[in-house]
Amino acid sequence: MEKKKISVLVSGGGTNLQALIDRIADGSIPCAEIARIISSRPDAYALTRGEKSGISTMVVSAKEYPDRKERTRKLLEALDSAKTDLVVLAGYMSILDPEVIARYRRRIINIHPSLIPKYCGSGFYGERVHQAVLAGGETVSGATVHFVDEGVDTGEIILQRQVPVLASDDAVTLAARVLLAEHQILPEAVTLFCEDKLK
Ligand code: GRF
Repeated sequence: MEKKKISVLVSGGGTNLQALIDRIADGSIPCAEIARIISSRPDAYALTRGEKSGISTMVVSAKEYPDRKERTRKLLEALDSAKTDLVVLAGYMSILDPEVIARYRRRIINIHPSLIPKYCGSGFYGERVHQAVLAGGETVSGATVHFVDEGVDTGEIILQRQVPVLASDDAVTLAARVLLAEHQILPEAVTLFCEDKLK
C-alpha cells in the first residue's frame, strides 16, 4: 500500500507531533509518512523535533507574511508541493483560511484538549481549557480528534478519550493527563484515516 503523506501544522512544543513521529518510526502506523512540518512560529520547538528526525520543516508566520491572502497562498503551496493527503493540526494556534479548508475538505484533523462539545470554541485553548473544566466541577475530561470545518472546533468528531479529573488537580496536572490521552488518540486517528476507515 502506498503511504499517505501527512503535513503537520504546529506552533509550539510539538509533543503531539513527536507522538506521531515515534509511532511511525516504531512501525505502528505503516500506512503514513510525515512529508512536511509547517510552523506558524519560527521559535516553535516542534521545528527542532522535525529537524532531529530529518523531516522537511517550514515556517509560514504572520510576521513574515502579514497579508492574510499571501500567507494562505504560501501555506497552500507548502501543502500542495508536499503532495499532502492529510493535514494534522497539532497545537496549531492559527485559524485556517476557508480556502485551505475547502481545498482539503475532510482531510484536515485537529486535536483538542477537552471532550467536545464541552470546553471548546473560540477562547478555549491551552491552560484556559483545563481551568474552565476545573471551575465547572467536572469529574471527567479528555481529548478529542475531529475534522476541521469552517467553525472553531465544530467539525465531525473522529475519536475521544476520557481521563479522570482528580480533586487534587490544578490546570497543570490535568493538562498533563489530557496530553497523554492526546498522544494516544492522534496516532490512532491518523491510522484510521490512512487505512481509509473514516467514511
Ligand atoms: C495540545 O494540548 C493540543 O490539544 C492543543 O495544543 C497543545 C499542543 O501541545 N491544541 P503540543 O505542541 O503537541 O505539545
